[in-house]
Amino acid sequence: MRRLYINTIGCQMNVYDSDQIERVLAPGGYTRTAQLDEADLVVVNTCAIRAKAEQKAFSFVGRLAKLKKRRPGLIVAVGGCVAQQEGEKILSRAPQVDLVFGPKAIPRLGRLVERVRLQGMRLVDIEASDAVAELDLTSGFRDDGQVSRFVTIMQGCDNFCTYCVVPYVRGREASRHPDRILEEIRLLVAGGVREVTLLGQNVNSYGLKEQWGSFVALLAQVDRIDGLDRIRFTTSHPKDLSDHLIDAFGRLDKLCAHIHLPVQSGSDRVLKRMNRRYTREVYLERIARLRQVRPDMAITSDFIVGFPGESDTDFEQTLSLLDEVAFDGIFAFMYSDRSVAPAAGFDAKIDDAQKKARLQALLQHQEAFTLAANQALVGRMQEILVEGFSTRPGLAEEPSARRQWSGRTPGNKIVNFDQELDCTGGETVRPGLMVGVRIEKAFSHSLWGRPVWVEEKPGGIKGETCHAA
Ligand code: 5AD
Ligand code: SF4
Repeated sequence: MRRLYINTIGCQMNVYDSDQIERVLAPGGYTRTAQLDEADLVVVNTCAIRAKAEQKAFSFVGRLAKLKKRRPGLIVAVGGCVAQQEGEKILSRAPQVDLVFGPKAIPRLGRLVERVRLQGMRLVDIEASDAVAELDLTSGFRDDGQVSRFVTIMQGCDNFCTYCVVPYVRGREASRHPDRILEEIRLLVAGGVREVTLLGQNVNSYGLKEQWGSFVALLAQVDRIDGLDRIRFTTSHPKDLSDHLIDAFGRLDKLCAHIHLPVQSGSDRVLKRMNRRYTREVYLERIARLRQVRPDMAITSDFIVGFPGESDTDFEQTLSLLDEVAFDGIFAFMYSDRSVAPAAGFDAKIDDAQKKARLQALLQHQEAFTLAANQALVGRMQEILVEGFSTRPGLAEEPSARRQWSGRTPGNKIVNFDQELDCTGGETVRPGLMVGVRIEKAFSHSLWGRPVWVEEKPGGIKGETCHAA
């Protein structure tokens, strides 16, 4: 048996790709380990979206030089978007690296690793055809008890936002055939998965080029899969968020009431320079429509601060957008130049101190909204899909702390709760079950509650179910 260690950096797309890497290497005898020291093959699955992610990849690759000295047979492979972007250069810069492969080379990875292992070659495979890279779905699925999984439905992006590297490294938009997607989800469900998140850079344009029907049509088909309970998707581009898709939130039972809708800035001037192709007004109108269809809709977003030319007034407009929307949560990033993206050549760059100050101000401004959104759930019942034990930092160090279960609400909020049911006292909770939890406390990043009922599922540990809610 050979040991495979994968370091996944960056987005959910890479989490999915890392699973694919694991599957494609399984027939070669590789099983995944969490122990770097015992690995025979290390794969660094890199992300190029921001300078920081890229630095993280290179510093990890740097550390592997020492490990390789101690374990000469170790194979080091660098994959993902930085690999796609840098290619050969990684081999010359880092002698400890044996293989560089792009996201589209994943189906060929088994053969590439064997050539490195048996012939001692150093290889680069960054061929970037527009075709979707498909794997054989029938082999290599791992049943590791995960109840929620990502499923990529399309690759690449055609939008060319001026700050973004994705269209250059992941290529043009290409959708997977709906039959492949549905087959993959059915296999996951057969292995115990109850929630899927459909992934694409711009899911709204799923299947349009290929004339395979719309994203909404795909959602409706996924909604009909027996045994699947929850559907999420990410990411939706505000310019393409159709009424049809918004209406699907009111129609499809399994579609969770949460949308991640990256806005990036609250200033029309900045949005224009970013080539986002919507205005603040259009964005606000989409939010209003979403809330009309689903008043309980959780809305999250991405922001970039310090985009070239962003003035104090532009930034104030971003702050005022937070007031107008009252997001459930946000992700905010300091703009960083990506050399292949047009904004790298824009003038009026913002200095680092200014970017840091704006990032802090933005996050601080949002804090109260995030907390308020969490507090609004206190006293209410929420259906939680149990994912496992809580990994809340510091929990393990509290000697008196009992292990707490953790799962998410349909709105994607993390809820932790104790083992025992209020009314049965039995330990009936386990990952993969739906539990009704009455929310009692709200924090800034999670909620705490008391379980009131646990669904009874064939194969589960029998427990008295209490519907006292
Ligand atoms: N600099 C900073 N943030 C970026 N993002 C994408 N490109 C950059 C960049 N060059 C952010 C956007 C996007 C998220 C995934 O990463 O907010 O939505
Ligand atoms: Fe990048 Fe814009 Fe495409 Fe998103 S929509 S991946 S930000 S180019």
